[in-house]
Amino acid sequence: MSCCHHYFAPGQGGDDAFTIDGSTMTFGAGCLDEAGDQALSARMKRVALFTDRTVRELPPFNVVARSLERAGVDFAIYDETEVEPTDRSFQAAARFAQDGYFDGFVSVGGGSVIDTAKAANLYATYPAEFLTYINAPIGGGQPVPGPVKPHIACPTTSGTGSEATGIAIFDLLAMKAKTGIQSRRLRPTTALIDPNVTETLPATIVAASGFDALSHSLESLTAISYRRRAAAARPSSRPPSQGANPWSDAVAAEALRLIGRNLVRAVRDASDVEARTEMMYAATLGGIAFANAGCHLPHGMSYAVSGLVKDGTYFDGYPCEGPMIPHGMSVVLNAPSVYRFTACACPDRHLHGAECLGADVRGAAPEDAGEIVARRLIELMQATGIPNGLSAIGFGAGDVDALTEGAFPQKRVIGNAPRAVTKDDLASLFGGAMRYW
Ligand SMILES: [Fe+2]
Repeated sequence: MSCCHHYFAPGQGGDDAFTIDGSTMTFGAGCLDEAGDQALSARMKRVALFTDRTVRELPPFNVVARSLERAGVDFAIYDETEVEPTDRSFQAAARFAQDGYFDGFVSVGGGSVIDTAKAANLYATYPAEFLTYINAPIGGGQPVPGPVKPHIACPTTSGTGSEATGIAIFDLLAMKAKTGIQSRRLRPTTALIDPNVTETLPATIVAASGFDALSHSLESLTAISYRRRAAAARPSSRPPSQGANPWSDAVAAEALRLIGRNLVRAVRDASDVEARTEMMYAATLGGIAFANAGCHLPHGMSYAVSGLVKDGTYFDGYPCEGPMIPHGMSVVLNAPSVYRFTACACPDRHLHGAECLGADVRGAAPEDAGEIVARRLIELMQATGIPNGLSAIGFGAGDVDALTEGAFPQKRVIGNAPRAVTKDDLASLFGGAMRYW
């Protein structure tokens, strides 16, 4: 594991410093009931309460709404969030936020709801033409001008880690592309992470969101080192995706240990409170890790996969009007193929990740690292009912060119990989992700 510990070795040509980015978070069974008091303490008097139509009917939403009522906080509910948000649904949410003159935001839901609240908060605070703040080159890439309104995020799945990040992801309908807005200023002010929300989660959601958390952690651990990443022109604009660093490494490793021990149990048995609680905690750690290091190829490739979703693709537990692939699933289907390719750039980090996930790495040679990671991921995928590669969700060799064209422009994430990636490399990575067993 030698290079993992050479954090401060001089002369690697990159940035000499890294930034630790975080917000206040509360974790524990029942903590959603703190929402009212937290809103008062953030001086919120009139709140936009974001959720979706499914979550609105579930106990976590009621706990938050009752808590706000008891505290005397006035709120208006917005439940028209879409499961995979689009520019259309972001703009509808922004209009609601602009019209309501709110002084704070509370979001109760999965990543889609939390991301939608971030975007609505931004456009209500600093109105602008929609593409202004969207990541370049698709959008204008303009920085968020200043602080936004306080936002309390209450995640209801154990996966996205959106409560820990300043990223809001959506589908730009006209381009059939996933893109987003990224700024430290969009990170929720505080989060209430209550493992009680996992009691009613269907197994498909625990599996897909669990692999999302796994991927945030393993991609952070194997990202390019911050010491090899070109320094930002202004230190204050150092990107949140700054590469692997001592802080993200520690957090990611702990998340992977928890996921390696608990993912299969949490998927198979809804009554396993210990496993589902530890997955909830791991998901937040995964969010903290990638908010400080950045994801790379499995996420970059997933945006192309979900953009080209095949008609008739549906999964239990995800209410959606059109076909969709759960985000965590579209990520992990690429992962074994990716790690077989990236391992040679930093084999000790790959072995460390595999070991945290529960693989036996005793006596492993560096050249075996990619295969060891891939095999452990495939074991976990098989044990939790994940489809056998991209071919199992309708893709074939004839789709590789379109997938490659969709993923190649995702520079923000692909540039964070530990190895440089050409278009031909991407095509073979998609080819290698078609079938695993
Ligand atoms: Fe993700």
